[in-house]
Amino acid sequence: MKDNNKAKPINSIKCVFPIKSVNEGLSRMIVAAFISQLDPTVSELADMKTVISEAVTNCIVHAYRDVTDKTSAFIYISGEYYTDGRVIIRIKDKGVGIENIKQAREPLFTTDCENERSGMGFTIMENFTDKLRVYSKKGRGTTVVLEKRIGL
Ligand SMILES: Nc1ncnc2c1ncn2[C@@H]1O[C@H](COP(=O)(O)OP(=O)(O)O)[C@@H](O)[C@H]1O
Ligand SMILES: [Mg+2]
Repeated sequence: MKDNNKAKPINSIKCVFPIKSVNEGLSRMIVAAFISQLDPTVSELADMKTVISEAVTNCIVHAYRDVTDKTSAFIYISGEYYTDGRVIIRIKDKGVGIENIKQAREPLFTTDCENERSGMGFTIMENFTDKLRVYSKKGRGTTVVLEKRIGL
């Protein structure tokens, strides 16, 4: 991918864990610890934790909704930060995928009305970051890429 930005990566992270709901909190703490090296403000840290929770919760409740063995499906997190303070975090699953990404990103859209989900996950991710990218293929999985400038 062409990147006009001259900033260089300073540090990176990669982790994989099963879709157990306890790992939602774990993923939030891991990413928070990772970006704390950039000296974020309290609000930047809170924003990042919120968006990681939304993305990981989506993997657990939507991507692998039909999986009963919670130890057999995984969430893949990777990320890095750059000399210009940009943090990029990718949250990937190999679940059911999203058929219509544009519609899924609309405020209040949810496919899970039974459990009274708000349909605001993607809207929150978009509002609390500088950039949100969503890649998905039906039956193959989804990758959410969150980008935010921290500590500058
Ligand atoms: N990782 C994912 N895998 C499959 N579908 C997803 C994923 N993330 C989001 N979706 C779809 O996008 C919709 C909107 O997501 P979101 O804005 O977080 O709202 P909510 O989670 O409250 O439904 C979900 O209802 C679901 O259909
Ligand atoms: Mg959601």
